[in-house]
Amino acid sequence: MPQPEMPQKTPYAIEIEAGKNYWWCSCGKSKNQPFCDASHRGSEFAPLQYTAEKDGTVYFCGCKHSANGALCDATHRNL
Ligand code: FES
Repeated sequence: MPQPEMPQKTPYAIEIEAGKNYWWCSCGKSKNQPFCDASHRGSEFAPLQYTAEKDGTVYFCGCKHSANGALCDATHRNL
């Protein structure tokens, strides 16, 4: 199974808006981290949709190894 690239080993703190959809980059190749810029095309990776339930700060995974989808679950501490 191919491994994603790791754009950074820490999460991205992003201000989000309630009701808005965000597309988290899972391949690690996007130049618009932590979001998809279609760099995954031709690979086995696909972006994950994250819908904001409320306004606030969300910590999107930057290491691309979180077991919690688009969100950081602290897995990066063990890499
Ligand atoms: S940045 Fe990936 S688990 Fe925290």
